[in-house]
Amino acid sequence: MDYLKTQSVDSLNGTIKISGAKNASLPLIAMTILARNSVNIKNLPHVADINTLLKLLSNLGAKCDFLDDRVVVDTSTLTETKATYDIVKTMRASILVLGPILARFGHCEVSLPGGCAIGQRPIDLHLKALEQMGAVIEIKSGYIEARTPNGLKGCDIIFDKITVTGTANIVMAAALANGNTTITNAAREPEVVQLCEVLNASGVQIDGIGTAILTVHGTNGKLVDIEEFSVIPDRIEAGTYLCAGAITKSEITLTNVEPKHLGAVLAKLEEMGSTFTTTQSTITIHPGQNIKPVKIVTQEYPAFPTDMQAQFLALATQADGVSIIEERLFENRFMHVSELQRMGADITLNGHTATVSGKTELSGTDVMATDLRASSALVLAALVSSGETNIHRIYHLDRGYDSLEKKLEGVGAKIERLQE
Ligand code: EPZ
Repeated sequence: MDYLKTQSVDSLNGTIKISGAKNASLPLIAMTILARNSVNIKNLPHVADINTLLKLLSNLGAKCDFLDDRVVVDTSTLTETKATYDIVKTMRASILVLGPILARFGHCEVSLPGGCAIGQRPIDLHLKALEQMGAVIEIKSGYIEARTPNGLKGCDIIFDKITVTGTANIVMAAALANGNTTITNAAREPEVVQLCEVLNASGVQIDGIGTAILTVHGTNGKLVDIEEFSVIPDRIEAGTYLCAGAITKSEITLTNVEPKHLGAVLAKLEEMGSTFTTTQSTITIHPGQNIKPVKIVTQEYPAFPTDMQAQFLALATQADGVSIIEERLFENRFMHVSELQRMGADITLNGHTATVSGKTELSGTDVMATDLRASSALVLAALVSSGETNIHRIYHLDRGYDSLEKKLEGVGAKIERLQE
């Protein structure tokens, strides 16, 4: 297995190009199941989760051509409707094929995704909404068996909780449904917005894009000619590198980034002492000489994202004072805390709230990645730890960061990928 060997750095300097968003790419790839044509997808990130979902589509019979600046997905040859456990267990977002396969073929079997490191992550809201649309759903031997004897019908869905992939699944199911579907309490994440925008541009009328109330005008089963599109920049990757600039007190510039997707993250970094120069597609961080403590509560977009919680917790270990970080979305998203404590961080956990006392000197050691964003928090801590840090099990990192060590090396970090 690979691991990352990292030394502390005085500072970083230079430019990092941000890749396409993993969490936009996944629903957009699943969306190709609704297409009549071959779909051209540009700016897909080179990360394991994208390859996993493309492999799943290939297993179902689709054709994926990897060209130099795009991936072309042709689902006209898709015949299988069973997403098997071996793939779904490696990536829970495979659940995103449920809505589109059911909408297109009228039946499907998708392995239950099971839990994951950060929480139980149920999909009850996805299933309840599909049942409201007329699906008959049974759980048998760990599989969701769904069928729509009379096709999916548009209806009014109200989500009890805001769910990102739940909203994406129902938008895609509703796209081919008979009649209109209104989704109330819909997720407003930029990744959901892009899915709606691409479908809308391809002839599936969607009203209320970007708001919590979406109305999808179904095509009554007619497949969609999906326009070519380029995946939006990854706001979480961008936020992670901004934290790298803040924690090492370095001025770095991000390119191919969408500043308006990072409002809450930039606001918190400003509270902690940084300032920014932004253009339409770049952000330069100007870190403060000292890092100020912060209070953070993770919530749905446009509030502070849970996917940035681990990174800010690492940053808070270098703040002069006490920071309070509350995780409201997932029940077990503090797996990075014990590893940071082993590096010398002073963190107290009380339920869903972490109290971080800084500034603490961190010392390099062997640490273990446990989930995607926890891994990036360990990298950030390693950049300012004395001595050498070896971060193991970085397959977690490879799921969602495109060439992280190369991008950091490019701005002066001492970081290399080695084999155990
Ligand atoms: C998406 O996960 C992201 N993944 C996650 O990013 C992100 O952390 C999360 O949204 C929240 O922003 C992708 O987009 C592929 P949810 P998702 O459904 O859709 C509860 C990363 O690091 N819930 O919005 O699975 C759930 O338990 C990953 O890139 C139900 O109770 O998250 C959670 O508490 C990690 N029933 C809350 O809602 C359901 O049916 C939000 O979950 C669905 C969700």
